[in-house]
Amino acid sequence: MSEMTSEFLGTANRGFAQQAQEEIRRLFGQDVKTKWVVPNEVFSFVLELPREEVVRRLQEQEPVFLRHIMPVERAIAWGGTTEEAVRELTSYLAGEPAERISGRTVAVQLRKGEGSVLPGFSLPEMKAAAEELFTREYHAEPVVRGSQLVLSVLGTDAALYFGLSRPEDNLSDWPGGAVRFRREDGQISRAKFKLLEAEAAFGLDLSAYRSALDIGAAPGGWTSLLLERGLEVTAVDPAKLDASLLRHPRLTYLPKKADQVKLGEGSFDLLVCDMSWSHRQMARLVNGLLYSLQSGGTAIITVKLMHRKAFQTIREVVEDLSPQLDLQRAKQLFHNREELTLFFIKK
Ligand SMILES: C[S@@+](CC[C@H](N)C(=O)[O-])C[C@H]1O[C@@H](n2cnc3c(N)ncnc32)[C@H](O)[C@@H]1O
Repeated sequence: MSEMTSEFLGTANRGFAQQAQEEIRRLFGQDVKTKWVVPNEVFSFVLELPREEVVRRLQEQEPVFLRHIMPVERAIAWGGTTEEAVRELTSYLAGEPAERISGRTVAVQLRKGEGSVLPGFSLPEMKAAAEELFTREYHAEPVVRGSQLVLSVLGTDAALYFGLSRPEDNLSDWPGGAVRFRREDGQISRAKFKLLEAEAAFGLDLSAYRSALDIGAAPGGWTSLLLERGLEVTAVDPAKLDASLLRHPRLTYLPKKADQVKLGEGSFDLLVCDMSWSHRQMARLVNGLLYSLQSGGTAIITVKLMHRKAFQTIREVVEDLSPQLDLQRAKQLFHNREELTLFFIKK
């Protein structure tokens, strides 16, 4: 591949890769060639542009659905064994200038394509072998996070893909953008991970806020995170909050529907909403409570999507909320599944 052409693998949440491809077409023009690598989830795309230019444009206008990219520096058909993968990796790295790797910190990020069988391929063995190779041949230091360099490897039944890049050039520094949080003992809901991921993805520090309104709060995963971060929390939901939260001194629980509560004007500097409602209904309910968010305050809102109307849904919800909220970022997070998360600032 010439310097002027670059190939990547793009990954999106299962079922939203077509939207991710559409984002690439809109950004780079209609004639982008894409090919499925893992149906509905991972695809390759080739652009007649230098790699740095592609990365720069994607960073400038971050896509909503494209979760992760890795450069394809080598792609081979293979028999699907660890030994073969290590041999190919050794030969690929040997073809790269040693100074690209020598003395750097490297994160080895390996993935198997979903649905690929690969009985002769072990991710832990491959990882150990790759890390040993980096240490022995390049005096590079294997690390998990915060590395200078990432080696991305994807193995499918059909092919093996390798690429080296800087973590910030992959859109996410997690393998394939699959953000993993440790599940805690007594964790109230998996939904908590959505707010944790939003905090990181939008560069927020939840502990910097004073007082939050949580609309559609039950069973209480988001509320529990906000309480852990030290905020006063008003939780609104006709459904029950987890019993472990009810006596918390900084919690006010209003067991009502969103359109039945009365709140103080400008009482909150953070509003979060994770109601699984149709987007227009949700926007109507949120609009009705925005008087309680102070000007300059933050709103983090989950929006339910229908696959075929994803872009239209975003347009409509942003428009419905636009009299009072300015959109900062929109991102389909790994923990969103069939939703996406919006980050706004109140006007
Ligand atoms: C996906 S759950 C929220 C999960 C929550 N974020 C967590 O971390 O545990 C959606 C919640 O929205 C609530 N809900 C639905 N309609 C509502 C309304 N009109 N007003 C307030 N809450 C509502 C439901 O009762 C449900 O508990």
